[in-house]
Amino acid sequence: MQRREALPREGAGGGREGQSRHVPVMLQRCLDLLAPALQRPGAVVVDCTLGLGGHSEALLTRFPEARLVALDRDKEALRLSGERLAPFGDRATLVHAVYDELPDVLARLGVPRVQGVLFDLGVSSMQLDEADRGFAYAQDAPLDMRMDQTTGVSAAEVLNTYPAGELVRILRAYGEEKQAKRIVGAIVREREKEPFTTSARLVELIRDSLPQAAKRTGGNPAKRTFQALRIEVNGELAVLERAVPAAVKALAVDGRIAVLSYHSLEDRLVKQVFAAGAASTAPPGLPVVPERYQPRLKLLTRGAELPTEEEVAQNRRAAPARLRGAQRIREDAE
Ligand SMILES: C[S@@+](CC[C@H](N)C(=O)[O-])C[C@H]1O[C@@H](n2cnc3c(N)ncnc32)[C@H](O)[C@@H]1O
Repeated sequence: MQRREALPREGAGGGREGQSRHVPVMLQRCLDLLAPALQRPGAVVVDCTLGLGGHSEALLTRFPEARLVALDRDKEALRLSGERLAPFGDRATLVHAVYDELPDVLARLGVPRVQGVLFDLGVSSMQLDEADRGFAYAQDAPLDMRMDQTTGVSAAEVLNTYPAGELVRILRAYGEEKQAKRIVGAIVREREKEPFTTSARLVELIRDSLPQAAKRTGGNPAKRTFQALRIEVNGELAVLERAVPAAVKALAVDGRIAVLSYHSLEDRLVKQVFAAGAASTAPPGLPVVPERYQPRLKLLTRGAELPTEEEVAQNRRAAPARLRGAQRIREDAE
């Protein structure tokens, strides 16, 4: 993995929290990766994770000939960034959608192919900062964690109703939690007394159920369980697994895609899709590789790129970021 050279400081806000809230992660590098595809009249760029609109605003500013289509499954994010992007008028089209719906969204808009796609995965600062959304383990709040609060099951429902074995699987797979059995044992005993409704009781239970040694490593002991619940509640990995190939398919030749991941499960998935696209599918031993077997993608990043230490010092939410980029170099085989 490579660390990039220092980035200019972006955005402004009141106080430390305000600053990180408005700083889009690895912004300059994302723009540079997409630039060659977007500096042309009629280019369309899709921001699959609009959030507070930081990356989108920068895309519209830096690429004045491009049009933006931006998706988010969170209606509050669409409302806030709608205000922010209003000055760009009809250059920006904001859509309430889950990002694996990208092909349908583009078909509805009459946009057959696009020149750029950006994913900035995970939760937004707004979702983390609004205590009542239930994403943050540091504040007591209803255990919700749905990015789209109009649909789906909440984290409380997952905790109170899933069989123990299923909870262990989720904590291990999505939280990489080594103490999953121990934590789930405690959850099951507790939920029989009274169902979970708010986060503080869960955080306390996790802390009490872990051995001293496990509490000393890796920050807040509830972090991994919260990540696992969030991924389950929003079906994040299943959606991503469909969305990244769909986004690659939507790219015109020479179009570019950039994906910012925040944990190894996301990054692994992106890496696999890009690696598969960049590999030849020819059976071994062919003297000349026919066009239909040749790679569809060229990788634009060597491994995953990391934020600079300076960026992390200014915005702690950038710390786990991993950026990968690729360019479409060929049409799909017939
Ligand atoms: C990290 S934030 C994006 C921040 C944004 N780049 C900015 O500069 O403000 C991720 C956003 O993606 C949205 N999101 C996450 N998963 C999604 C999905 N499967 N479909 C659509 N939106 C999703 C979240 O609701 C959140 O608003």
